[in-house]
Amino acid sequence: MTEPARTIADAVVVITGAAHGIGAAYARALVAEGAAVVVVDLDGDGAEKLAGELRESGGRALAFRADISDEADLKAMVDGTVAEFGTITGLVNNAAVFSVVPMSRSPFDEITLDEWDLMMRVNVRGTWQACKAVIPAMRAAGYGKIVNISSGTALKGSASRIHYVTSKAAILGFTKVLAREVGGDGIRVNCVAPGSTLSEEAPDEGTMAYRQTQVGGRAIQRVMLPPDVVGAVRFMLGPESDFVTGQTLVVDGGSHMH
Ligand SMILES: NC(=O)c1ccc[n+]([C@@H]2O[C@H](COP(=O)([O-])OP(=O)(O)OC[C@H]3O[C@@H](n4cnc5c(N)ncnc54)[C@H](O)[C@@H]3O)[C@@H](O)[C@H]2O)c1
Repeated sequence: MTEPARTIADAVVVITGAAHGIGAAYARALVAEGAAVVVVDLDGDGAEKLAGELRESGGRALAFRADISDEADLKAMVDGTVAEFGTITGLVNNAAVFSVVPMSRSPFDEITLDEWDLMMRVNVRGTWQACKAVIPAMRAAGYGKIVNISSGTALKGSASRIHYVTSKAAILGFTKVLAREVGGDGIRVNCVAPGSTLSEEAPDEGTMAYRQTQVGGRAIQRVMLPPDVVGAVRFMLGPESDFVTGQTLVVDGGSHMH
């Protein structure tokens, strides 16, 4: 069966964790191409601020305060999006417990049970819950593009933050299983794994120094910035990748090669 061509300008894309950091860069780029974007974040004010800015620039954008691990929040977001834009064709599972992880990078035996559980609840369970909430709308449309955000650390390891890295490794397997389960519905599920990215809005000296330490291991030796990841996510959302599913694309300047 030949499907109708879908363009980014036709897309309605939900981006979780989009009020700040790399998620905000996806939102800005997609709106600039004509997509309708739904900014979902725990930080409701931040989400509203970005969506307002996107609308002022002439774009289509909505904001929802939602915890991706809360079913009721997700349902309200999906219902509100479908009421406003009629459908959902894209989902970027970008929200994660990340910047709140101390830059001190806790060793495995200093992580508390609560920290471990929070990481799994948001980064793994929340990704699954967001998919469960959005996929019925994609099934109804007979088409959908899901992009899960993992991390290069899941492929090459790191010497700390084992809970974070484990959660991001789970996303690799999750992507493959979901891709097989929903391929028959016309839904593609892929993964993008960014390298260490200077996503902080006001980085302190320690953060800058940490980001700089990642440069030497790269084929392209510079600090990675949010716009560096945008093209890969745009590709996975657009029609150019309609025959690509279950894949992980590493975007890290050639740090991990596979
Ligand atoms: N920055 C990096 O070095 C890097 C590297 C590899 C992968 N990543 C991944 O990229 C994504 C974005 O990273 P970032 O650096 O922009 O992070 P960030 O911490 O700046 O942004 C994450 C956003 O998610 C939101 N969020 C957190 N918990 C949430 C929840 N329960 N429900 C809804 N929203 C929630 C936060 O409010 C925040 O706006 C994350 O998945 C991260 O793991 C980041």
